[in-house]
Amino acid sequence: MPLSTALVTTDRPARYLKQLVSHLGHKATTRLSGNSRGTVSLDAGTCVLTADAEGLRLIVTASDTEGLTRVQDVVARHLVRFATQETLNVDWTEPVAGEDLETLDPVVGDYLLAHCTPPDDALRELADTTRETTGGASTMQVSGDEGALLTMLTRLVNARFAVEVGTFTGYSSVCIARGLADDGRLLTCDISDEWTSIGRPSWERAGVADRIELKLGPAIDTLRALPAEPAIDIAFIDADKANYPVYYEEIIQRLRPGGLVVLDNVFLGGRVFDPAYQGEHHIAMRRLNDLIVGDERVESVMLPVRDGVTLARKR
Ligand SMILES: C[S@@+](CC[C@H](N)C(=O)[O-])C[C@H]1O[C@@H](n2cnc3c(N)ncnc32)[C@H](O)[C@@H]1O
Repeated sequence: MPLSTALVTTDRPARYLKQLVSHLGHKATTRLSGNSRGTVSLDAGTCVLTADAEGLRLIVTASDTEGLTRVQDVVARHLVRFATQETLNVDWTEPVAGEDLETLDPVVGDYLLAHCTPPDDALRELADTTRETTGGASTMQVSGDEGALLTMLTRLVNARFAVEVGTFTGYSSVCIARGLADDGRLLTCDISDEWTSIGRPSWERAGVADRIELKLGPAIDTLRALPAEPAIDIAFIDADKANYPVYYEEIIQRLRPGGLVVLDNVFLGGRVFDPAYQGEHHIAMRRLNDLIVGDERVESVMLPVRDGVTLARKR
């Protein structure tokens, strides 16, 4: 689907956002989320509006370029009309195909992989076994650079208790377990006995099996069964995307001050940028990405590592 964006520079982005969403409410499906985010869905396509310190950000998608031009025109005309005390410029980018958005150029990706601490024999074997036994599902495994990042973050927060949501064959489990303090422990959750069984022998080979406790069952039950006190030092969320907001909430309540939540796949393969994607998990991920920025309990940064990684540190 074609997609185009514009940044409208103004000191009053929230005001224009609200005005546009409420004005178009009679001829379009509109939604306002707080003061800083809104959606306008016309027959021809959709515009997502976000207000931030730089101005009003617009992302328009439509099924064809004709529809895209129509939505751009409706949005721009109204904004310019609303601005009685200033002149607004709405300069749209050239349309690109939303689903073709590359969040990381493959050349850069390969260079990054070649310039981080390489996986050792145990991790390499686990990656090979995962590829051979799970086929296409093996792409769920974190990459070597993300694994190295997990080990480093776990070390940096001096973690003694780590929680992982989404074990698969346990590559990321090994990476986290390796960064733990000597007496540290990782609780990792998954629903699949089949996939986690593939990885278990590698935990032995990697020398971390005694630090890892695997809990099979819906992760939400495992998290809710944990004591309410803030004992988690680091958590890694990498499972069913629609449930990320619930996992985040359960974890944040149990995270110690200074502890870290790491969320994987926050770009959803680029679909999080493209409002044409309105599946349950797309909506949940966009909302969570927005929620974390405004969550007073944490300070956060979103990294363009692979499919997007958010780090949220509890204040
Ligand atoms: C992306 S994979 C995890 C990859 C893993 N972190 C790695 O690096 O190898 C997602 C995992 O989440 C698990 N999963 C999906 N829904 C779940 C749920 N409701 N509770 C627990 N685990 C779940 C799947 O079985 C799958 O193994």
